[in-house]
Amino acid sequence: MRSLLARWRRPSRLPRKPRLLLAVALGLGASIMWLLTPAAPAKRLDRVHQPAAVARITQGPFAPGPGSATVPTVSSPALIALGRTLFDQRCASCHGLHLQGRKGVAPSLIGVGAGPVHFYLSTGRMPLANYHAEPLRESPAFDPRRIRALVAYVRHAGGGPASPTAHPARGSLALGFQVFDSHCAGCHQIVARGGMTVGALVPNLQQATPQQIAEAVRMGPYLMPRFDSRDINQHALDSLARYILWTRHPSNRGGWGIYNIGPIPEGLVTFFMGLMALVIVARLIGERTE
Ligand code: HEC
Ligand code: HEC
Repeated sequence: MRSLLARWRRPSRLPRKPRLLLAVALGLGASIMWLLTPAAPAKRLDRVHQPAAVARITQGPFAPGPGSATVPTVSSPALIALGRTLFDQRCASCHGLHLQGRKGVAPSLIGVGAGPVHFYLSTGRMPLANYHAEPLRESPAFDPRRIRALVAYVRHAGGGPASPTAHPARGSLALGFQVFDSHCAGCHQIVARGGMTVGALVPNLQQATPQQIAEAVRMGPYLMPRFDSRDINQHALDSLARYILWTRHPSNRGGWGIYNIGPIPEGLVTFFMGLMALVIVARLIGERTE
């Protein structure tokens, strides 16, 4: 008892009364917070969406369904001739001189149409440097005219549908969020910041244009599954594009979004703020030793 009293008498930064009051107030506050905090809800496993089947690498794209928006392919004999030259130089070593593909190296481009060619070239994924690697987004290897030429040539020589596209202004943000949550967020993260899945890096969607979004959805590049117009109809596709554009400037109603990449940085920030608060309290109510 006496030693306790002696401790209490040791000098502190704060006079004794405020120190006691502060300790009691903090203790009470902590107990009240603890009593008021609701128990954590059981994990809702149904929210964790897993795509039903991960697509095999390289399937052809789905042709545009009824009512689908498409982009007409620009074509002319001069463009097709330029496209053929470029193709023979930069693509044929893997895809074959007649677009037929090479077993174990690259898929055939016969019948794929304009969408995949535009998608892979405008996102800089083709020409691939190494056919074992995942095609990743880079700055395009060709200027827009050469891309148009390659698209015109592949469609002229191999046939297939025009590029699908999306019109975000016709979509609904709420529906876009729903479709994204159930079909895409499992891989791309709920505000499209990307991540990883088994065997592939999943890109963020901060740069994709509405046309590239539509092309990716119908084609399913690399390990991404493809979706036809029964899975995701044109209105849903327009809405998806609208939602994806919205994720680039989300309204962070909770305050600072910390790059919107989720609970880990948020938890870290809270942790450091809590740590600072504890240090300040400890410095205030603690005692000096000689
Ligand atoms: C199984 C995981 C998975 C799901 C589900 C998925 N994606 Fe993807 N997505 C990928 C991967 C992996 C890539 C990269 C492909 C590559 O490297 O060629 C990709 C690429 C993309 C791209 C190209 C991005 C860019 O800028 O280069 C878009 C756009 C896209 N996805 C949209 C969607 C949309 C919209 C949905 C939902 C309808 C969706 N994805 C569902 C895995 C997925
Ligand atoms: C080093 C080999 C290589 C070169 C060079 C190359 N590609 Fe590819 N390409 C591939 C591989 C491998 C795939 C399959 C990638 C995948 O599954 O996502 C592919 C896929 C594609 C696809 C998608 C086909 C589909 O059915 O989904 C298109 C379109 C394409 N390439 C166009 C081109 C064009 C155009 C060029 C030339 C500018 C080119 N590629 C150069 C290896 C190559």
